[in-house]
Amino acid sequence: MKVAVIGATGMVGDVMLKVLAERNFPLTELLLVASERSVGKKMTFKGKEHTVIGLADAVAARPHIAIFSAGGDTSLEWAPKFAEAGTTVVDNSSAWRMDPTKKLVVPEINAHELTSEDKIIANPNCSTIQLVMALHPLHKKYKMKRVVVSTYQSVSGTGVKAVKQLENEIAGVPGEMAYPYPIGRNALPHCDVFMENGYTKEEMKLAREPQKILDDRTFSISATAVRIPTAGGHSESVNVEFENDFELNEVRRLLNEMPGVTVQDNPDTNTYPMPIYAHEKDEVFVGRIRRDETQRNTLNMWIVADNLRKGAATNAVQISEYLVEKGLV
Ligand SMILES: NC(=O)c1ccc[n+]([C@@H]2O[C@H](COP(=O)([O-])OP(=O)(O)OC[C@H]3O[C@@H](n4cnc5c(N)ncnc54)[C@H](OP(=O)(O)O)[C@@H]3O)[C@@H](O)[C@H]2O)c1
Repeated sequence: MKVAVIGATGMVGDVMLKVLAERNFPLTELLLVASERSVGKKMTFKGKEHTVIGLADAVAARPHIAIFSAGGDTSLEWAPKFAEAGTTVVDNSSAWRMDPTKKLVVPEINAHELTSEDKIIANPNCSTIQLVMALHPLHKKYKMKRVVVSTYQSVSGTGVKAVKQLENEIAGVPGEMAYPYPIGRNALPHCDVFMENGYTKEEMKLAREPQKILDDRTFSISATAVRIPTAGGHSESVNVEFENDFELNEVRRLLNEMPGVTVQDNPDTNTYPMPIYAHEKDEVFVGRIRRDETQRNTLNMWIVADNLRKGAATNAVQISEYLVEKGLV
């Protein structure tokens, strides 16, 4: 199994290599790929030194799987070239997610839709993945009508430049800005670019992607995405109105039974999910589970996950594992 990691020198790429190593992904050859700026750079994987190569050389090497985390433009231009060479692409960017000819996959929910015909597979947005992991078992049981989500997103979701901006601000040294304003001691109601309807692109991803993953357009999602000065993971305050009523203990049981979800919910012991504890974990953590007392059949909860793990690398590696296990590559 020959695997190429595109964007290997980036934040997601770094975690991708960790996750591939930890899960002992059955690869026999690894190609580390980045921009021309990094070609020739040395990196190690499982103690072995690798030299970073460019995209054209990686296509020519015809890997079985290419995992892309190098931005939408790189994916738009290069994923079809890999696909044409027979490689299956798992893409972390937003380039292909809403393309009706491409599958948008969270393995615990819809990996069964994949076939060997799928040559470009989209990994959902980080804040979408943790949201649908919690919504899926509840939707199956109680049927969602409407979701209102507000996010509290880590700077690592923007990439290396944003983490550096926060570190510089904390150290009190001037440096390059990833955001239009300081992020330290601040909250920016602005993740990704603004669209014509006044929402940001991140908010529209949260509104649209879950409908595609859950294959259901009968529920609606309204989102506000906020960047905060954390580095360990994204948090979400989620209000869900269902068609049917629920029991809180059954909600906790259904969430706990969902593979990849862990309930941390005990006000008596101040137990609730937080990004510092979700950091470097693969699970999605759910807590603060309570009834919305202002409206029928409505639930409030708090969802936290490491955006670089389940929100990106872990989900992409799980898709790749599924492809290998089912003989689809
Ligand atoms: N951060 C997150 O939480 C998260 C979550 C889900 C998805 N994603 C997606 O993953 C991607 C990478 O995010 P990141 O946070 O890792 O960004 P990052 O830290 O800025 O890294 C970007 C990576 O892409 C490579 N790259 C950039 N332009 C390229 C080009 N023209 N050709 C080949 N490689 C190129 C860079 O290589 P050089 O080092 O050579 O510049 C680097 O390896 C983005 O599409 C992002 O939307 C991120």
